[in-house]
Amino acid sequence: MTVATPAALAKVRGPVLGIPHLLQLRFNPIGHNAFLRAAYGEVYRLNAFGVRILVTAGADMAEQVLVNRDRAFANGPAWSHFIGPFFHRGIMLLDFDEHLHHRRILQHAFTNDALRSYHAVMAPHIRKNLEEWEGEQHPRLHHLFKALTLDLALETFVGVDLSAAEQREVNQAFIAAVRAGTSLVRKNIPGTPWAKGLRARAFLEDFFCSHLAAKRRDGGADLFAQLCRAQSEDGHGFSDDDIVNHMIFLLMAAHDTTTITMSSMAYHLATHPEWQERARAESVAAGDVDYDGVLGLEVLDRVMKESMRLCSPVPSLPRVAVRDTEVGGFRVPAGSFVTVSPYMNHYLPELWPDPTRFDPDRFAPERREDRSHRLAFEPFGAGVHKCIGMHFAGMQVRAIFHELLRRYRWSVPEGYVWPIDLTALPYPRDGVPVTLERIRP
Ligand code: HEM
Repeated sequence: MTVATPAALAKVRGPVLGIPHLLQLRFNPIGHNAFLRAAYGEVYRLNAFGVRILVTAGADMAEQVLVNRDRAFANGPAWSHFIGPFFHRGIMLLDFDEHLHHRRILQHAFTNDALRSYHAVMAPHIRKNLEEWEGEQHPRLHHLFKALTLDLALETFVGVDLSAAEQREVNQAFIAAVRAGTSLVRKNIPGTPWAKGLRARAFLEDFFCSHLAAKRRDGGADLFAQLCRAQSEDGHGFSDDDIVNHMIFLLMAAHDTTTITMSSMAYHLATHPEWQERARAESVAAGDVDYDGVLGLEVLDRVMKESMRLCSPVPSLPRVAVRDTEVGGFRVPAGSFVTVSPYMNHYLPELWPDPTRFDPDRFAPERREDRSHRLAFEPFGAGVHKCIGMHFAGMQVRAIFHELLRRYRWSVPEGYVWPIDLTALPYPRDGVPVTLERIRP
């Protein structure tokens, strides 16, 4: 790619936006972003979490930054600023040749065969967990999905027999590590989420280290065992430290993203009961399904995609320029933070007609609005860091909803709108309260 000479590049203009705009973006992301674009153009500057960020809009700039053909942008310095102390050496925080080396090994844990075995492990746990919802008449679905995802992670990812107390301890450590990334106080001051996150990281390192030797020896169908035996084509495997770092990162990468995807699906299916019935009819007709059957649930696939379009689980993807470069014709000095926002881009009317409407058939073969641009639909990112767990997530979420739809019908009062909060990853402040009704065959 040719980079224009610095003199030919425009400087990003307009004020550096601060906390009032950050708050508006948090509670009214779509409306306020549209306002900022109209006022300041395709690239604007925002102070957030202690750094100045160039916020970009549109699929062309997303492609330039994420596909990163001229290797001008790096992940490590960007993500480390937010989550480094808790998830350091996770693959998303590695760059260039080192990243490629780790990714080649890691992808052996995400082959079709590996996914098939994860499905076999998780399927009975999904059914058991959902049966336990029977007593819940007015649950907050986001909380139930969170608990279910953690439960499945212990079985599918960790695969170690733990007492209930140990499970609780691992879960709590893990939640603390995730929460720490968005702590407002970013120092090790006792009592703050940051300090709790550091303690949790140390606990998780000890936990995985203590089970490593047995896992290497005994193997298993879980992700931890897969990482122990994963090797690249040239015979390289992971060191003990690599396995611990990747396990901690993978748990984090999978957890909140999958939970918010399911909450978004549940919310949209509750506010569009005709779609809930359509998805249920597909699942009831399919009956008990295996791994291939889960992948064949097409209505559910469209519902999942449309729910991720309307609420992208990772709303912003940060990068740091490793040298002077440009984006969209604007000057980007070395060291600048730049973000691409799948969340905002998914509402661009030039890519998505009537963008606020829930319309899963956008993804039907005869419409395929996601093909309006290579980067039109980017919930899993793009380029070399594109989500390695994309197919895992698709399988897990569809497997859960398939069983959920066959067992329960859920509804919300007329006119209900979920209060989405975009402080870090999106979450519904009210947990999505619903009325749940058991369906008897
Ligand atoms: C619906 C659920 C999920 C969504 C929306 C999602 C989204 C993303 C996005 C946007 C990225 C790119 C980050 C960047 O470019 O900076 C990413 C990376 C990643 N995701 Fe996911 N993710 C999901 C589920 C999962 C699951 C289930 C796993 C693991 C089982 C996983 C593992 C990873 C890993 C390891 C990376 C880093 C890849 C790399 O840097 O090479 N994700 N994910």
